[in-house]
Order: sequence, then C-alpha cells, then structure tokens
Amino acid sequence: MSTSEQPASRAPDSLSRPIATETRGDTGEFDVPEVTDRSGKPKLGPTGRPIREIPEPPMLERHGPARVLAMCNQKGGVGKTTSTINLGAALAEYGRRVLLVDFDPQGALSVGLGIQPHELDQTVYNVIMERSVDICDVIRKTSVENVDLLPSNIDLSAAEVQLVAEVGREHTLLRVLRPVMDDYDYVLVDCQPSLGLLTVNALTASDGVIIPLECEFFSLRGVALLIDTIEKVRERLNPKLDITGILATMFDPRTLHSKEVMARVVEAFGDTVFDTVINRTVRFPETTVAGEPITRWAPRSAGATAYRTLAREVIAR
Ligand SMILES: Nc1ncnc2c1ncn2[C@@H]1O[C@H](COP(=O)(O)OP(=O)(O)OP(=O)(O)O)[C@@H](O)[C@H]1O
Ligand SMILES: [Mg+2]
Repeated sequence: MSTSEQPASRAPDSLSRPIATETRGDTGEFDVPEVTDRSGKPKLGPTGRPIREIPEPPMLERHGPARVLAMCNQKGGVGKTTSTINLGAALAEYGRRVLLVDFDPQGALSVGLGIQPHELDQTVYNVIMERSVDICDVIRKTSVENVDLLPSNIDLSAAEVQLVAEVGREHTLLRVLRPVMDDYDYVLVDCQPSLGLLTVNALTASDGVIIPLECEFFSLRGVALLIDTIEKVRERLNPKLDITGILATMFDPRTLHSKEVMARVVEAFGDTVFDTVINRTVRFPETTVAGEPITRWAPRSAGATAYRTLAREVIAR
C-alpha cells in the first residue's frame, strides 16, 4: 500500500514541503524521498510502508521556544523511559537543546541518566508543589551535552493526591515549565504508567504525545482508552494537543507475532505510526545499568541508529 492510500494525517503533507532556512525552532518542513531498490520499486520497511530516507535536519540558528512532547502509555514496561532518554540524546546530537522531565515517582529516567534519586534534595515534586522553588535550581546537566534533566523520586507519588486540592491542578506542570521554555527546543516528559492526574498534567503541558507501543498483542488493548483520554484533554484543557506519533517498540523481526501486531497497528493508525521501529535487543537493559543513552554507550548499534532516525522523524513532523 502506498502512503497516499493511508488515512489522512499531518505527516505526509508536512513532510513534502520545502526546507526552510531561517526559522526559529523546528517546523517540520522537509523534503523526504522514498528509498528504492535496483528495479526502482520502493523498499518496504517493517511497517509495510515504503522506507523514506529523512535527511539530517538543518542546524538551528536560534533556540526555543520548546516543543513539549509527552511520552505516554498507561501500560507498564513498553519503552517510555528508554525512548525518552534515547530520543532526547539523539535530538541533542542534531544540535537541539533538550530538557527531559522525569514525571514518574519510580525515577527510572533519572537512574537511566546515572542519578541516584534517593540522594536528591529537590526534585520535580518540589518544583510543582512549592511556589518558592525555582525550576532552574532543580534542573541539572547530564553527562550528555545539551541534555538537561528535571529529576524525580518517590516524593512525586504524594503529588497525585496533594494536587487534587489545588486550583488549576491540571495546569501545574505547564505553569512551572514556562520560565525555561525559551532555553530548550524540546521538552520530553516521561510519564508514569497510569492515566492519573500527573499524566493529565503532562498532556496539558504538551504540544504532542508520543505513544510507545510494545509489539505484543495485549499492548493494543489499552490504546483506545489512552486515545480517549488524549481527546478529552484536547477538548477540555489543551486544544493544541496532538498525537505526534505511535512508536512501535520491542519489535522482533523474526517472529510472525511481532509482524502481525505491527500490521494491526498500521491498519488502525495509518501514518500516525512512525516509520522508525525499535527492535527488541538486550542492549537497552544494558544501557540502563550503564546510566547512559544507547547513542553514547553503543553509538554504532542498531538501537542507536533507530533512535537517531526517530529523532529525524520527530523533527520532520
Ligand atoms: N527495544 C527494547 N528491547 C529490549 N528491551 C527493552 C527495549 N526497550 C526497553 N527495554 C527494556 O524494557 C524494560 C522496560 O522499559 P522502559 O523502562 O523504557 O519502559 P516504561 O514504559 O518506561 O516502563 P514503566 O511503565 O515501568 O515506566 C527496561 O528494562 C528496558 O531496559
Ligand atoms: Mg518508565
């Protein structure tokens, strides 16, 4: 099936416009050719669609204001945190300034960047609950150039309950991020596996949602509820919220099951599904132990390459 037959979405249109030279921030204006084989037929990727080679994005001349993306799926263990770290690091390789927000009391994102959450004096919890705390004092640099982190730890679990009593409770994260929006090109919010008030805060603060989806049959079941929640947030709290893309993760090209799930996802969501697919590999659990993104820990691995391709797709969308 050619891309033109897919259900309508923003991607093909925004991908076919010419490259802008002097812009502030990323606008998604790219020329994306399809990759062909020797006979001139388009080569198909794991999504069953023609592979498109997205060129390296132009360097930005000026930075900000940030595009905020929530990495969201209420199902646990689907690759939200892994994708937040590695997409962030890959965007930074393209010269983008990135803030990663750990919005999960488990603090896995902080751990994945080599930080011990229980040793932190102040975290995102203090920023959202105490007006006197300046976000700039809590954001810290990571070992990756151009990637900063707003860390989290178990303290954040209390916020879900405490925020309920606040005025404008859904807008808290949006409010606290405002002062640093001009310092970054991307803010990626790593959500916890739930659709509670913290996740609603992340969606209210975001321009787009990236939904990591494990290539496994049971993963499909929760997606309708997630999309329903996103639509409610769009209607009631944040009209600009959009689904940036669905990212298939833990794909195993050797199994029919993975391919069947992939086909179902593409059938249901069309061009919303990123061309980039993240394969299942033991290298990701290894990087968590190393406390580094895969783009640094194993820069030439297939996993690192995949997240760089994803970064190009995200910039182009
Ligand atoms: N592509 C992959 N291949 C193999 N293992 C992976 C892959 N992506 C992530 N993992 C591993 O799967 C586990 C869950 O990943 P991750 O923590 O990113 O998911 P999550 O959605 O953030 O989970 P949670 O919902 O608990 O926050 C981790 O051990 C991680 O190292
Ligand atoms: Mg996580």
